[in-house]
Amino acid sequence: MTGYNKLKERKILIIEDDALIRESLSDVLVNAGYKISVVSCGEDGVSAIRERPFDIVLTDLQLPGISGLDVLRSVKNVSPHSACIILTGYASIETAVEAMRAGAFTYLKKPFVNAELLVILEKAYELVSLKSENVNLKKEMRQTCTGAILGTSPDMQKVRELIEKVADTDTTVLILGESGTGKELVARALHYGSSRSGKPFVPINCGAIPEDLLESELFGHEKGAFTGAVATKIGRFEAADHGTIFLDEIGDMSPGLQVKLLRVLQEKQLERVGGITHIKIDARVVAATNQDLELAVEEKRFRKDLYYRLNVIPVSLPSLRKRKEDVPVLAKEFLANIAEKKKKKIRGITGEALDMLGAYDWPGNVRELENFMERIIVLKDDDSVITTRDLPEKIRAASAPARPQAAAGLPPDGIDFNSSVADYERELIVTALGRANGVKKKAAEYLRLNRTTLIEKMKRMDILDTDRAESAADSKGSNR
Ligand SMILES: Nc1ncnc2c1ncn2[C@@H]1O[C@H](COP(=O)(O)OP(=O)(O)OP(=O)(O)O)[C@@H](O)[C@H]1O
Ligand SMILES: [Mg+2]
Repeated sequence: MTGYNKLKERKILIIEDDALIRESLSDVLVNAGYKISVVSCGEDGVSAIRERPFDIVLTDLQLPGISGLDVLRSVKNVSPHSACIILTGYASIETAVEAMRAGAFTYLKKPFVNAELLVILEKAYELVSLKSENVNLKKEMRQTCTGAILGTSPDMQKVRELIEKVADTDTTVLILGESGTGKELVARALHYGSSRSGKPFVPINCGAIPEDLLESELFGHEKGAFTGAVATKIGRFEAADHGTIFLDEIGDMSPGLQVKLLRVLQEKQLERVGGITHIKIDARVVAATNQDLELAVEEKRFRKDLYYRLNVIPVSLPSLRKRKEDVPVLAKEFLANIAEKKKKKIRGITGEALDMLGAYDWPGNVRELENFMERIIVLKDDDSVITTRDLPEKIRAASAPARPQAAAGLPPDGIDFNSSVADYERELIVTALGRANGVKKKAAEYLRLNRTTLIEKMKRMDILDTDRAESAADSKGSNR
């Protein structure tokens, strides 16, 4: 019975015009526990394949409309990982050769013995699951290695090249960059690109844990070393044996612990807190910080000797605003990945919207862009396209001055005139208000508009009025 349960997930499409054979095939496969869909002609078969994937397609060769060979070609096109088995009443060598050449898993001559069919299906399924395992593995590799670090800017290309060069060495790497620039992503790429990849990658955030706790987290403790140490515990360095330890936010480490860490790194051995035995360690060290460590050294907040010990190979990650060409690349990739994960069918994002994302500064760097894309995708309806109208004011405002040039060229598929004009008008007003620090009179001057016209437009467009001084003055009858 257990075997049957496993089989239930195996989806087979049967395409057979002969009602008797169709029914008998269905009975055999349902009894064997397969999940079946049954159609009686090639056209219905092809639409079924387009609707959802099947592990195996079992099709008759001679069908009333399009033939089994045509079905086979569609399968190869739409769902290349499915296995296709051809049933034929006239098994000639030519048919067999043609079917195999077109990518059939095998062919079976009618009448056939059910047991033989079941063995063939079993073998076909083995191949299908191997293929999908392979695809998943490749995807996983891409997600953890340098391939996961996106960006076509020269800076990011250099970062990827450097990672590839130093990944499979034991050299200590110090990753520098603002929050959200991908420091942890780089640390993982270094680990998974090395021969240590089969061993643990152990991250520890040195900024988030209080000093005495951090010491026992890093180096472990012996039973009874302090109140609450009820059992011996190994630390992250030991857990990362033959693997990689990622010392995140190293700039936040207390001076006391900095000394202890330096000793461990130099001697390649440690004693657990409260212990006396020396324990040899073999962990590759990767550290990261969003602080200016050189300045911290100058200001004596960070030990110079530890800095040199860690800074063997520095990898600097540029902030996103310094490589704006990466924004559309990242946005499109996040759109594809997040939509797939959330099972949303977003049709795409307009070039104008991508331009606007690129003009914004992204103070939270790639993390901010990723979270932003996720929010938009979750809120968007299926089958829609992300446009400038989906972007919040702060992002729209960032690109307002660039619009007159953008308007000079009309995109190939045209634009929605009214909404584009309204967008542009809104952006001009928001930009002018920004430059005038919210003072409407000034903003109106920048736009050569009457103050009252500006106020009217702001009301109509629901633009927030932050001109407190003026509101107060207005209520006293003044006209600034
Ligand atoms: N170049 C990139 N390509 C694809 N995804 C990226 C890239 N850089 C960052 N990310 C994604 O952005 C998010 C933040 O990255 P990560 O956690 O590595 O940043 P960080 O520098 O460690 O930030 P913090 O200093 O705040 O810890 C992650 O989801 C990461 O996958
Ligand atoms: Mg991080």
